[in-house]
Amino acid sequence: MVQIAPSILSADFSRLGEEVKIVESAGSDMLHIDVMDGRFVPNITIGPIVIKSLRQQSRLPFDVHLMIVEPEKYIEAFADAGADIITVQAEACPHLDRTIQQIKATGAKAGVALNPSTSEYVLDYVLDQLDMVLVMSVNPGFGGQKFIPGMLTKIAMIKDEITARKLNTKIQVDGGINKENIAEVSLAGADIFVAGSAVFNAEDPSKAVRDLKKKAEVIEGHTEE
Ligand code: DX5
Ligand code: ZN
Repeated sequence: MVQIAPSILSADFSRLGEEVKIVESAGSDMLHIDVMDGRFVPNITIGPIVIKSLRQQSRLPFDVHLMIVEPEKYIEAFADAGADIITVQAEACPHLDRTIQQIKATGAKAGVALNPSTSEYVLDYVLDQLDMVLVMSVNPGFGGQKFIPGMLTKIAMIKDEITARKLNTKIQVDGGINKENIAEVSLAGADIFVAGSAVFNAEDPSKAVRDLKKKAEVIEGHTEE
């Protein structure tokens, strides 16, 4: 089953609770929460306090994407705030294996994100431990950027490796996903689609979620688990 994960980065932060409820009742599968520190990426967003108060407003799994340096200092705080999946950027983790273990020790699922210029080979010795691989299809920091087409190859390479190792690891794609390209990205092997501007900047965010899901599902092999 394909999954849609709206990113609140493009939501109206003055009415975040309502925005989350809209995408939740539209059938979203998880909520993608972008945490930025102004160091790993040139933008600053939110931290555990906001996530904790959002947690009261939603039953969706919280998929927390940490675009921060030294994420190991904050993993417990995000888990306590209600994160169900915690994803760290490989580039921010000199001791990636240890950081993955730290995430799992909190009870959260563990994901690793790769910037567009980072090779999938950095996953060779950790893939078996991961619940999710996040392929960044834009350079992280901002919503509304254009999908980098070369990432289709990376998705396919990772999918092949997951299949060869008979793993259940999901591939999430983040950045520039829209109605026009989601089918192609699904075909390349992605399972979970993050969409920020395509959902929250749409006239009808609820319809946008449903349309994206339908278009991602048309691909053979993704209609069943
Ligand atoms: C970018 C973030 C994304 C962002 C995607 O750094 O990680 O989650 O919200 O936004 P769109 O879908 O507009 O590219
Ligand atoms: Zn993200």
